[in-house]
Amino acid sequence: MKVETLPVTQGSYNLKDYEEAYKSFDWKDAEKVFSWAETGKVNMAYEAIDRHAESFRKNKVALFYRDEKRNEKYTFYEMKKWSNRAGNVLKEYGNVEKGDRVFIFMPRSPELYFSVLGAIKLGAIVGPLFEAFMEGAVKDRLEDSEAKVLITTPDLIGRVPVDELPHLKTIFIVGSDVEEAGPFVDFNKKMAEADNDLDIEWVDREDGMILHYTSGSTGRPKGVLHVHNAMIQHYHTARWVLDLQETDIYWCTADPGWVTGTSYGIFGPWLTGTSNVITGGRFKPENWYQTIEDFGITVWYSAPTAFRMLMSAGDELVKKFDLSSLRHILSVGEPLNPEVIRWGMKVFNKRIHDTWWMTETGAHVIANYPCMEIKPGSMGKPFPGIEVAIVDDQGNVLPPNRMGNLAIKKGWPSMMRQIWNNPEKYESYFLPGGWYISGDSAYMDEDGYIWFQGRVDDVIMTSGERVGPFEVESKLLEHPAIAEAGVIGKPDPVRGEIIKAFVALNEGYEPSEELKEEIRQFVKTGLAAHAAPREIEFKDKLPKTRSGKIMRRVLKAWELDLPAGDLSTMED
Ligand code: WTA
Repeated sequence: MKVETLPVTQGSYNLKDYEEAYKSFDWKDAEKVFSWAETGKVNMAYEAIDRHAESFRKNKVALFYRDEKRNEKYTFYEMKKWSNRAGNVLKEYGNVEKGDRVFIFMPRSPELYFSVLGAIKLGAIVGPLFEAFMEGAVKDRLEDSEAKVLITTPDLIGRVPVDELPHLKTIFIVGSDVEEAGPFVDFNKKMAEADNDLDIEWVDREDGMILHYTSGSTGRPKGVLHVHNAMIQHYHTARWVLDLQETDIYWCTADPGWVTGTSYGIFGPWLTGTSNVITGGRFKPENWYQTIEDFGITVWYSAPTAFRMLMSAGDELVKKFDLSSLRHILSVGEPLNPEVIRWGMKVFNKRIHDTWWMTETGAHVIANYPCMEIKPGSMGKPFPGIEVAIVDDQGNVLPPNRMGNLAIKKGWPSMMRQIWNNPEKYESYFLPGGWYISGDSAYMDEDGYIWFQGRVDDVIMTSGERVGPFEVESKLLEHPAIAEAGVIGKPDPVRGEIIKAFVALNEGYEPSEELKEEIRQFVKTGLAAHAAPREIEFKDKLPKTRSGKIMRRVLKAWELDLPAGDLSTMED
């Protein structure tokens, strides 16, 4: 197969030579950037905020916050004070102690960030929830984690079945005119009265810090627990992959309800002392470009779906804004189609750098580093100090170019430490030999680049040919009529499976039999005859997770008239 390559991104100082770093990198040395590597007693929030507040970065802006109503900024010094206040409020009125689960269910706002940091300062375990969750999803998570405290807003409290949650003792309401009765406490009022000083709870590096619920292909959502030790990897990946430097203005578009919004919306940028832009409100292409221009964003971390939505908003729109501050763009969460990278080159004159990781891995594992040539369609190479391999179902390492399970050797610093309340589930991720099995299939080429093929259960076998749905979807997206595409294997008595594509069209295109045939030919001639979808169905919109992944299993359920399973992570 011929692969195109794109040259390296210039101007990064962190990782000059990947090959050299890969040989010599050692996590034991890497952790020495933190003084606690000696003492063992640590707190993430101290390292992310207070350490800078006590340094030359004291008056540097840590948080720029903007939504339709608010436009605020906070220095590291102010973030220290506000997070201390939040810690005091949670301790005094919620009796929060080390190890307690504190859940946060609200849209992005400065108070959300003060609360996360304040709770972590007390040694509590924070559980962030998407504001889009409805009652069932909220209940599942609060119940399973036995959350003691919840921080939410007047708009969302109606979705919390308070009477059915015996462990939930205190509910802080962030809003105005809050009536304080029973478990309800007025968060803003208490914050206004709180003390600026707080005794930080120094914890062990292996103590719990954050609990992210994520859904698998079966069963209820599972709680993935991360510990303070993860900061070693958050820090180094923020340096090497995000390439964060002293003068950067960084914007991660993810919500903290998703791991990207915590690992790289909170920890990575602040551990490195970077100015972090957070925006609230709904997605609108104009607003996004305006955000880049107004704040002078230099490093921008987003997701393929967002890029594709910007892409379909048209190239003319891009030209209305001054985006010249951008120097490094990254993507995560789903396959980054070569088409999107080419678009990025065209409109931003920048490569979009892919990163691969999971809620369970806690931080980047594979990336297209600034210093590497990018092969569009490949996720890049493993982070130094992390052993990644393609293994078969028994844990045998496969040679280059063979498709198999994307696996990671146990022991990277930010690896999940527990599935909450479910040790069997946790163990089921690992094969003998210490391989963590990601559930993704991929292959590694001769140069060590890793090529994503799909979730293991999504791979299509048609007439004996193995087809990765991603490849077909990428090709479909290159067709001018197509805005979104999801591809599944549909059982077929003759061929095993046939390829069925669900597509949403760009504005100005109408569904028709002619268009179907044209699309089929497009894939047939552009990719391979066996990869061309035999069936095509037009949809207004495809089912996606909040993190932007097309939910193929929902498409499959539609197609086969089966129950769609857990939909709590589906976008509204
Ligand atoms: C998918 C974590 C292709 C993959 C940030 C993984 C990707 C799942 C990429 C984890 C990428 C993530 N290319 N697929 N660069 N990054 N994925 O835990 O299937 O919500 O197993 O997100 O997202 O999803 P999670």
